[in-house]
Amino acid sequence: MRKKKTLLLVVSLLLVVALFGTVLTGCGGNKQSSNNNATQEKKPILIGGVAPVTGPAATFGKSTKQGYEMALEEWNAKGGVLGRTVKLIFEDDKADPTEAANAFSKLINENHVVAIVGSVTSSCSLAGAPIAQRNKVPMITPTSTNVKVTEQGDYIFRACFIDPFQGTVAAKFLYNNLKARKVGVIYDIGQDYNAGLAESFKKKFESLGGQIIAYEGYPDGTTDFNTQLTKILDGKPDAIYSPNYYNDDGLIAKQARSLGFNGPIVGGDGWDSPDLVKIGGDAVNNCYFTNHFSKESKEEIVQNFVKKYEDKYGEAPDALAALGYDGMNIMLTAIQNAGSTDGEAIKDALKNIDYQGVTGHIKFDENRNPIKSAVILKIENGKQVYVTTINP
Ligand code: PHE
Repeated sequence: MRKKKTLLLVVSLLLVVALFGTVLTGCGGNKQSSNNNATQEKKPILIGGVAPVTGPAATFGKSTKQGYEMALEEWNAKGGVLGRTVKLIFEDDKADPTEAANAFSKLINENHVVAIVGSVTSSCSLAGAPIAQRNKVPMITPTSTNVKVTEQGDYIFRACFIDPFQGTVAAKFLYNNLKARKVGVIYDIGQDYNAGLAESFKKKFESLGGQIIAYEGYPDGTTDFNTQLTKILDGKPDAIYSPNYYNDDGLIAKQARSLGFNGPIVGGDGWDSPDLVKIGGDAVNNCYFTNHFSKESKEEIVQNFVKKYEDKYGEAPDALAALGYDGMNIMLTAIQNAGSTDGEAIKDALKNIDYQGVTGHIKFDENRNPIKSAVILKIENGKQVYVTTINP
């Protein structure tokens, strides 16, 4: 007992001496203040992440979140950002704009994140962006292609191309490659992405000399498309353009086949889901869609990413995984380049980013949109097959 007490005394004395020593020597003095900073600096940098991991776009959210996490883990394994660990605070917006607005408010006001990566669907990013802008919290949507998203303010960026480009690519492909002259369009009027992409497509296809024989909108949540498809098929189309999310596209393809349509159905990035084929089955074979990424790319950076992702998650990355990964990497690079977690500094660093991602080279134009190429994928025997790359 006595022995223990003496030992304790000696240890405490030694500690006091050691402490004094460091305070008295010049270098020790620095050390102490850097110790104080160290407690501050040790605190992780909080990054908000938003994606729909449940609801009608759940496969989008799952892939995107995996992309976020993989990027974050790689940075942490290399020592973090600005010497600090980065931590993801993730919110599921269920592809619902009200949920997205709540998620952005919570991340900013309660969690005090320094930046947000998200959301995925354009309507959700459009709900979140004004909140990020108002609070001067930099945001990058990995995947939202509707042109209005980055128009919400100078703190809002995106990692993907925009729909006026995507619609143009589809129109040229249908007109020039598939030689379609008469096309019917079917789209969800309740989604900014679908309505915007349908419009961009129509404009370009008509300017090429093609004819839109029917332009059919349907309300969000529709599962029976027979009315719209019947009107479209009455016009004897060469092809159908369906720029919607995968659940709808799968059903639309099935119902169009039941009504006797055997031609190609073409869509946009919203087709990129393993559920498309699960729902559409044979009906989506020999159909095409525009996308951001193909895992078949021979580029080394892509092949390394595909391998790492497959090892980690046991499945191949889709465009959402790749864009989630690029989006998070761009944001973390910007924070590192800014040398600070200050919102304005990060925003300025984002403006000047020059980043080689797995979905292409990313530099922002004056509207904070990257100029990137698109790929066209074909569905053959239930598998996505790379067709071609189209540059801006
Ligand atoms: N571009 C879609 C949107 O804006 C989201 C998406 C991106 C879906 C990539 C699939 C693949 O809503």
